[in-house]
Amino acid sequence: MKHTKDFSISRRNFLVGTAMVAVAPAAMCFPQEKKPMSLKLVDVPQSIPEKVYSSEAHGISRKTHDEHLKLWQGYANKTNEIRKALAEMEVDPAKANQIYSAIRALKVDYSFAYQGLINHNVYFETLGGKGGPATGRIGELIQESYGSFEKWVADFKATGMASRGWVYLAYDHAEKRVFNYGGDAQNTFPIFNHTLVLAMDVYEHAYFMDFGVARMKYIEAYLNCIDWDAVNKLGEAVTTR
Ligand SMILES: [Fe+2]
Repeated sequence: MKHTKDFSISRRNFLVGTAMVAVAPAAMCFPQEKKPMSLKLVDVPQSIPEKVYSSEAHGISRKTHDEHLKLWQGYANKTNEIRKALAEMEVDPAKANQIYSAIRALKVDYSFAYQGLINHNVYFETLGGKGGPATGRIGELIQESYGSFEKWVADFKATGMASRGWVYLAYDHAEKRVFNYGGDAQNTFPIFNHTLVLAMDVYEHAYFMDFGVARMKYIEAYLNCIDWDAVNKLGEAVTTR
């Protein structure tokens, strides 16, 4: 992945700015001139990880992934576009409005774009494995929460059939458990204080070319392609402490 750009304030500029505030009159502490907020751009994915194509053996084709890449890139590009717009806009609280306002439009669609990017990052990072029963710490957490891997699979499949966009396996920091969440769009229904360790895309673009409307066949193929090592790696930092 490439194209990370960080326009955050430099240490030197920060120190200069701090010194200026120290000697400036109170009115100058809140300058009125337009100043861009700190801007950081996300990486735009350039290709599908090679291991992901091993899913062809189970029926999820290379063509599907290659088309999917264009959508994945779209979420990254739109995330950056909205970040730039927010960085450049003159924020005026008096013009903000919950029915419609420029900042409302940007904030709402930002969650769709950025969460869409995160969802796809996790989807492609955790595909391309051998499937089978969950391993490692995540496997233990699945046992603790669902009683058995088979029961987790049943819940995961059912959640996939009942959702319009995603199934998320996430670790709840407060309860120290994992749970299968359903999602109807890119930005529904994540919950704070969780870490996402597995994400299954159930939008039609993820399976229609290969399975038509037979979503369950796609879900079963997907389960055979999960890279549990990658899932555990995503959960490593939070499930071992
Ligand atoms: Fe997708």
